[in-house]
Amino acid sequence: MDSFEFNKQAGSVLATLLFVMALGIFSDVLYNSPVPKIPGYALPSATEAAAAPSAEKAVPLPELLAKADAKKGADDAKVCSACHNFEKGAGVKIGPPLYGVVGRAKGSYAGFAYSDGLKKKGGNWELADINTFITNPKAYVEGTKMAYPGQADAGKRADILAYLNTLADSPAPLPTK
Ligand code: HEC
Repeated sequence: MDSFEFNKQAGSVLATLLFVMALGIFSDVLYNSPVPKIPGYALPSATEAAAAPSAEKAVPLPELLAKADAKKGADDAKVCSACHNFEKGAGVKIGPPLYGVVGRAKGSYAGFAYSDGLKKKGGNWELADINTFITNPKAYVEGTKMAYPGQADAGKRADILAYLNTLADSPAPLPTK
């Protein structure tokens, strides 16, 4: 084999190697799948865990209220006090005052400019209504002015409701059904 022939053959071997490498890179790009954060496959239990909050919702409110702690609720309601007054006789803050709100007609505090959605709502603020409202304000009152994302923990909501229920001259007993 003369050196020219050898070069030709070596050249074609090299070219083949290069082609195979390029193919490898190209197919990597084609079939590139992101490395999962958690190795392994997503098992059905993950979706069951996601469904858990609705199972929690199944606990009726009166049962939660029976176990509720108004003192803890006062603590959890501190986020509300950024926008609401709780003391008797205290006026509007960013939101209407909440003393006496349980049983009060919705959107009825004179001197507060409620959203149209809340003005149209109708009925009184029973604990069950407030519960739904503070779970997800936007879902309960269309276009609400209450810029509060909601409290997802049903137990904490029950504590807050038990606390709100104390904010009255003669608090009504917590509903048992
Ligand atoms: C960022 C401010 C803000 C926070 C935080 C907030 N609210 Fe409100 N809230 C408002 C505003 C504003 C309104 C009036 C809503 C409307 O007109 O749609 C309102 C309305 C209400 C009403 C209806 C009162 C009525 O007179 O009809 C209740 C009940 C209420 N809030 C309870 C709560 C509770 C309980 C919390 C805490 C878990 C809370 N809010 C947190 C601003 C807030």
